[in-house]
This record gives sequence, C-alpha cells and structure tokens, in this order.
Amino acid sequence: MSKKLFIETLGCAMNVRDSEHMIAELNVHEGYELTTDAREADLIMINTCSVREKPVHKLFSELGVFNRLKKEGAKIGVCGCTASHLGKEIIKKAPFVNFVLGARNVSKIADVVHKDKAVEIDIDYDESQFAFKDFRSSGHKAYINISIGCDKQCTFCIVPKTRGEEISIPADLIIAEAAKAALKGVKEIFLLGQNVNNYGRRFSGEHDKINFTELLRRISAVEGVERIRFTSPHPLHMDDEFIEEFAKNPKICKSMHMPLQSGSSEILKAMKRGYTKEWFLNRVEKLRAMVPDVSISTDIIVAFPGESDEDFEHTMDVMRRVRFEQVFSFKYSPRPLTEAEHFTNAIDSEIGSDRLNILQAYADSVLDDLKLTHLGKVMEVYFEELRSDGYVAGRSDNNIMVKVKGSEEHLGKIAKVKITEVSRMVQYGEILA
Ligand code: 5AD
Ligand code: SF4
Repeated sequence: MSKKLFIETLGCAMNVRDSEHMIAELNVHEGYELTTDAREADLIMINTCSVREKPVHKLFSELGVFNRLKKEGAKIGVCGCTASHLGKEIIKKAPFVNFVLGARNVSKIADVVHKDKAVEIDIDYDESQFAFKDFRSSGHKAYINISIGCDKQCTFCIVPKTRGEEISIPADLIIAEAAKAALKGVKEIFLLGQNVNNYGRRFSGEHDKINFTELLRRISAVEGVERIRFTSPHPLHMDDEFIEEFAKNPKICKSMHMPLQSGSSEILKAMKRGYTKEWFLNRVEKLRAMVPDVSISTDIIVAFPGESDEDFEHTMDVMRRVRFEQVFSFKYSPRPLTEAEHFTNAIDSEIGSDRLNILQAYADSVLDDLKLTHLGKVMEVYFEELRSDGYVAGRSDNNIMVKVKGSEEHLGKIAKVKITEVSRMVQYGEILA
C-alpha cells in the first residue's frame, strides 16, 4: 500500500508552487498518495507563511492539533517561510515535529523526510536550476517559477530573510516547462516570482541578458500557450516597454497586480518602495490609456509606523482615483528581521482598525459599482473548475470570476459568455453558441 501525504499550504502562489514541487519530489522518490484527511496520513506537512504575525501564532496550535490526531508513526514537517525564519526554534517549541524545511530548500524534501529533527533552512541555497519533477494540481493552469528570492529591502517585509537573494531561473528552463505544460493541454501559464518584472537581474550561471518583457515575448511564442498571467510585478519596474508589451501582446491577460502599499510618498519612502504616489498614478494612467478594460488589483498596508491622517488620506486619494478591481488590505504587522520592526512611531491599533475599515468599505463600494457594469457584457472565459452545484467556473481575460451552468465537457475550454447576473465576487452567465 502506498504511503499517504497530507499537505496544508498557507500564503501566496509561490507557496502553492513550492507545495507542488514537494509533492512531485516525494511522489517520485517515495510513492506518496495525497490525502485531505490528516488522520490517515503517514506524513503531515504545513507549508507556512510568515508575512504577518497572526498565522505564525496559529502555527503552533495547529501543530498541536496535528500531533494529537496523527496516526501512530506518522511524521510532521514544517516547511516554507516560517520554517526559514524560526528554524530549530520550531522543534524546541514543538519537539514532536520531525523536520523543518525552509522556503529556499524545497528540493531537499525527499532527503529531509528521512532525517529526524533535520533543520534545512540555508538562505543561500541556490535552487534556481533545479529540475523539479512534475506535479500540477490543475490540468488547466500551470504555475511556473521564474525567480527565487527577493532583492528588495521593503522595510516592512520579512520575505528577503525567508527566501534569500533574488536569482532568476534560466529562460530555457522556463520555456521548456511552459512547452511541457502546453503539450499536456494547459492553456494558461502563470509566472511566479516575488518581483517578476525585475527578471534577469541576476542569474547564477552564464546567461543572455534578457528582461521580463523579453521573457513574456518568448513564452507567448510557445505553441499551445493561449494565456499568460504573472504575479507579482513591482510598480517601480513598470517601464514603458513592459506596459507596451502588456498592452499589445494578445496572450497576456489584461489584469495587473500593482501593489501600492501606501498612497503617501512619505510613507513609501519610509517603506523603501522606491517610487512615489505620482509615479504610481502615472503608471496607472499609462496602463489605462493603452488598455482601457484592464483590471487592476493591489495590496495596501494601513497604519505603517508614522502614518498620519494626511498620509492615510493620500492612500484613499489613490483608491478614489484608480478604483481598483481588487484590494488586498492589511493592518501593519511588525515582523522580526525587518527594519521597520525598530521604528518607534507605531500607530495605535484601534486607529489602524478604523483605517482598515474605511478602506475596505470604499473598496467594496467600488466593487458594487463595477459589478453593475459587467451586466450584459460578453467575456472570454477559460473554464477551470467543476463545482458541486452544477456550475463550472473560470476567469475572464481580465480576471473576473464567471460561473455558468455546465459540466466536465466545458473544462479546459475558452468560451464567450454573456453575463446575466452579477454579485460582488462572482458573475453568472450563459455560454454563447
Ligand atoms: N504587515 C502587514 N502586511 C504586510 N505585507 C507584507 N509585509 C507585511 C507586514 N509586515 C503585505 C504586503 C504584501 C502582501 C503580500 O502582504 O501588502 O504585498
Ligand atoms: Fe508568505 Fe511571503 Fe513567504 Fe509567500 S513569500 S509564503 S507571502 S512570507
């Protein structure tokens, strides 16, 4: 009988792909089968996120639960960003944990699983050319890493300390992965990196100098690839060449994530983001001028140390001018190993909650307005998921979730859908013949 693996993935799309890589390596070397029931698993893994404090706290209570319900002899592993950050502390606090594997050491999984109390968190480990075995949880969309690590010094962010310095993955490996996925019928390629449009800044071996725009061109030439998405780009690196390629390349989906973080140039400076409010608005203007129906999403942190009412008002001003289609907003959470952890001008937590409420209420009101504009529109939808309620779900080119009555036969197909009913998060429609 094959062994069973339960894996819980927290955090970002990068972590989702890291989990796929670990599943693939374990499958090939050990023959694991996936389970969604931790009680029957021989190996329980949590792929953690450390970007905010709350999930880190939750980790230890969750580990306790897994330890109580696991079957005899089952192993528990902690992987990902919190593993990188806390390392052997995790085994000190939860001695039943069998191994700790950092976010930059994913390729060591098949080894580490046999070394009791192993802690592999080397931050300089270079996995940029490692040929991971193949596993994808979706047959329709392929996540592909284009870089590891992050070279930015944003003062709020722990990621450079959990994922190490930025190294781009060689373009031929990326193209080969895209071609392999396309051969299997995958139409959508989703490129991943902490800072995708900084691609090409550093390779670990000899490599042609190619930037992200050129990489996009090369991927769109791969036969069978019909859609390209990517996350996350950095507003600082959104040069004209990049925006122009985004606009004119029909395979690049017209949704852009632009993590603003703050609308105040003062706060952006304290965050070391490298751009100003004006630059951000200028990039949005250029983008919207070239791609009028582009949907723009963002990440915002409120109550960063020193954020005055006036600073917050600048953030709201950007919110009103841009009218983002999706806003991921967070109250600032001080993180260890970051510069901002030592800032002394913290904002009162209640003020932070109030600002978050104001911002989220505004973001919701924009969504309520926008959804009405979708009614009656025809969208090209790529169907990826069969729902239990007799619907199939997919995304439009500009990233709007659309559901239609349908069945398995629709999966993996792109169809024109007329929107007949709208809600804040999902639009319903009918396929046009
Ligand atoms: N506190 C709150 N939010 C944070 N993020 C990153 N670090 C912090 C922090 N210390 C948010 C940013 C980032 C997203 C992934 O998480 O908005 O873009
Ligand atoms: Fe979380 Fe950032 Fe690590 Fe992704 S890279 S898992 S968001 S800390």
